[in-house]
Amino acid sequence: MQNHQLLEWYLDAGVDEAISDTPTNYFALPALARKEPISEPAAEASATEAPSPAIKATSTATPLHYTPSAAMAMARELADKAASLEELEAMVRGFDGCAIKKTASKTVFSDGNPKGRVMIIGEAPGAQEDVQGIPFCGPSGQLLDRMLASIGLDRGSVFISNTVFWRPPGNRQPSMEETQTCLPFVEKIIALVKPELLILSGGTSTTTLLKKDTSITRLRGKLYDYGNSYLAKEIPTLVTFHPSYLLRTPSQKRLAWHDLLMVKDFLDQAITTG
Ligand code: URA
Repeated sequence: MQNHQLLEWYLDAGVDEAISDTPTNYFALPALARKEPISEPAAEASATEAPSPAIKATSTATPLHYTPSAAMAMARELADKAASLEELEAMVRGFDGCAIKKTASKTVFSDGNPKGRVMIIGEAPGAQEDVQGIPFCGPSGQLLDRMLASIGLDRGSVFISNTVFWRPPGNRQPSMEETQTCLPFVEKIIALVKPELLILSGGTSTTTLLKKDTSITRLRGKLYDYGNSYLAKEIPTLVTFHPSYLLRTPSQKRLAWHDLLMVKDFLDQAITTG
């Protein structure tokens, strides 16, 4: 294989960043051979990500080679215990059960107002989000902000998160294993924020949360009742196109505008019916 072919093969596999100057042969590491936990170097975590002063770092010490089902069970156990959004955020930041955390530089937990009436769930952090640690701060976030502004909303009135908290390498779609591992955390965020209206932006959050594997074109335009084990009451939910899809397919902005009007109608009606 030629060098450029090898590089192309890496790129196709989503390996687009060198995270170390020297290669590591993980098969040769004695800890792995003996199946001992790989402890996350504390210095690495703090060098890339300064925890918010309000949040105490919680090391959940989940080794990265946990089986997917063990990582999911650990996420569920933690989410069950979280009594506040701050506690949950600290747990997510300390959680090492999702492999994409290893290649990401920041944990991207949320943005906006947890007391907002609307909560939006996107797919996964992209390159810009990975640098800043803020969801939807890149080009699709700029479009999202303009869309929200068109119906009088902004990040002071909505709360935003994603189906996973780390950027998948090469901006690939998060795998089912990654979304299912993060799902208990996402479910608990929704329950702690308890928005009046939940908006699922794009196919990944729709499939993960509504468990519907149909196209957004078919699913959009009506209200669904979203429930999970942490919620006493279901939350009215709308499905719409992801802003990055709208950037690639501007002709769909017309339908997205109808979705925004539905959001506005819902919020206006909720106020008048009190
Ligand atoms: N796309 C998403 O789905 N989420 C982000 O945070 C950024 C881009």
